[in-house]
Amino acid sequence: MAYILECRHIDKTYQTGKLEVPVLHDVNFAMEAGEYVAIMGPSGSGKSTLMNIIGCLDRLTEGELLLDGEPVSQLSEKELALLRLRKVGFVFQTFQLLESETALGNVELPLTYAKVPRKERRAIAAEALEKVGLGDRLEFKPSQLSGGQKQRVAIARAVVNHPKILLADEPTGALDSKSGQQVMELFRALNQEGVSVLMITHNREIASYADRVVEIRDGVLLDGWRPTTPLPIPSVQPEDAVAAATAAATAAAAAVAAAAAERPASVSPSSPILSAPGIQVEEPGDGFFDDVDEEPTEDLSEGFFDELDEEEDRDAAAIIDREDADKKAVGTLRAKGDGEAEKVATLLDKGDSEEEAVTAKMNGEAKSTSAEAFDTDKTPATGIPAGGSEEVDT
Ligand SMILES: Nc1ncnc2c1ncn2[C@@H]1O[C@H](COP(=O)(O)OP(=O)(O)OP(=O)(O)O)[C@@H](O)[C@H]1O
Ligand SMILES: [Mg+2]
Repeated sequence: MAYILECRHIDKTYQTGKLEVPVLHDVNFAMEAGEYVAIMGPSGSGKSTLMNIIGCLDRLTEGELLLDGEPVSQLSEKELALLRLRKVGFVFQTFQLLESETALGNVELPLTYAKVPRKERRAIAAEALEKVGLGDRLEFKPSQLSGGQKQRVAIARAVVNHPKILLADEPTGALDSKSGQQVMELFRALNQEGVSVLMITHNREIASYADRVVEIRDGVLLDGWRPTTPLPIPSVQPEDAVAAATAAATAAAAAVAAAAAERPASVSPSSPILSAPGIQVEEPGDGFFDDVDEEPTEDLSEGFFDELDEEEDRDAAAIIDREDADKKAVGTLRAKGDGEAEKVATLLDKGDSEEEAVTAKMNGEAKSTSAEAFDTDKTPATGIPAGGSEEVDT
């Protein structure tokens, strides 16, 4: 069985000024194509860091990441953008929809970047929204939708281009249990259609929807590798890694405190998912979104770079520019998360149960990020110009 994802000996160390903040330690993790895996672990253990590396939104420090068999660490930003476009869909806890766009407009965006002609993409996006039960909400803006509906729009957007792998960071964290269940049912349906799913969650019930649950603690992933082929390099002993992680955690805490002083008080929210739409370049199998893909879209898989004319080059550059803005905004959301993580630590110190603390953190995070994400007075830092879809219309 082929791996859709391989993490080989991945380390991640953030550089915060002069201070190094080691976060991931010799992470070895493999997912077979079609698997559904949940990652669980305490707050601050490195789950989002790992997810952002797997989604090519952030760079690893050491090791190698293979997506669908393709090593990514040596790829340029432009090549990474195209890899994401072809293979990866993202879903986040706080949805990351464009407030100024309708549900239809949000789902159309990945198709726009895939250069699907306007008429076609409207039809495809409408069909995708119908598939997630929102056929009667096409023209609604995010502020006119419930949390569960917003997340379903985000899911339609994540999969509208048939990604091979869906990455979800706390996809039900901001939802009530019924909406969370609906989201899990959609994930299950997508997985049954052949999409690999990797999901971070704090919730054991949500994790139980996955075929397999792996744990991460202090940046060390436990039992992440289920080899059908052996690892190329012998891994370090887990005890060594845990010891290293414990030492690193102290340094990390100091770095985070130092970094907090440098962070801007407020930065406009962004939409990382929009910078990483998936695009189907292989023949789609029978399934979830097949009936919306009867008209073949432009095949970008062969000689894509050779064929880029100047206009296309500018489009690719625009995607990369926007991703830079998106990455900064991800950093800001993380900064908020750090603040919440500190509150969690305080609660833990006071002797509250870990579960209560995590719940408090998640509630706080949802409140603080959504407040800005849906503040229409702020310009989302997506770098998507008004009427941007026309630019690539054909
Ligand atoms: N850009 C950064 N610079 C420095 N340290 C960072 C940066 N991003 C994350 N960290 C640190 O890395 C550690 C892991 O963060 P991460 O966001 O991956 O945790 P998490 O497991 O997703 O936590 P949560 O469950 O709260 O979302 C934290 O200690 C965090 O402070
Ligand atoms: Mg996280």
